[in-house]
Amino acid sequence: MIILKTPEEIRLMQEAGAVLAACHREIAKMIRPGITPWEIDQFVEQFLAEHDATPEQKGYNGYPYATCASINDVICHGFPTKEPLRDGDIVTIDMVVRKNGWLADSAWSYAVGNISAEAQKLLEVTEKSLYLGIDQAVVGNRIGDISHAIQTYAQEQGYSVVRDFTGHGIGQAMHEEPYVPHYGPPNRGQRLKEGMVITIEPMLNVGTYHLTIDDDGWTARTRDGKLSAQYEHTIAITADGPVILTKQ
Ligand code: MF3
Ligand code: CO
Repeated sequence: MIILKTPEEIRLMQEAGAVLAACHREIAKMIRPGITPWEIDQFVEQFLAEHDATPEQKGYNGYPYATCASINDVICHGFPTKEPLRDGDIVTIDMVVRKNGWLADSAWSYAVGNISAEAQKLLEVTEKSLYLGIDQAVVGNRIGDISHAIQTYAQEQGYSVVRDFTGHGIGQAMHEEPYVPHYGPPNRGQRLKEGMVITIEPMLNVGTYHLTIDDDGWTARTRDGKLSAQYEHTIAITADGPVILTKQ
């Protein structure tokens, strides 16, 4: 069942999104060789507490941290460890913020120091694929139009699209219907309606889209060890078009 949101509910989600976006802006300033994902996670806990918000991922299905920190070949759900980031790494920080009962979800990939041209291009293409998906998030389109726009562009640029994780509806729960694959044919799936709020969160890989899960039960890695990146926004579908609730 898809739970449509009223304009007032979307406004509340935008408040959660504003805190999340401000948090990402701070993280962008902190990222450098030598900092640990653990320190970033601690910062997020403190930042959210100062903004009357809570980290929804912590405790979700037993996930132990406020953030996911996914480095290089890690696709998503990496633990924020005390291992320092190194020059040339790429790291995706993902978090879900709850404020006044409503949620927002956004992941962002960051360059650590000087990164390779290959990594830089992956970041740029992955971010652009997110915005091409958002462009399709208009009333009357279908979920498949979002999926197809992302896959088409990603593959044109030589990347594969992760299939095992999707975007999702979001509101007072982290994961609601509909699910939003980042690959697939156009003109298929649920028709988009005013009041739907979804995440779009493409994960693009330099090599294969196949993945493995570490023994910790969470960390998803590319099977071939090549790089992966992700950008995610929470989007409200309105009569005036898509509204990015987690805009930085
Ligand atoms: N933020 C992720 C998403 O986009 C959820 C991470 S799973 C968790 O759905 F367990 F870490 F919360
Ligand atoms: Co999400």
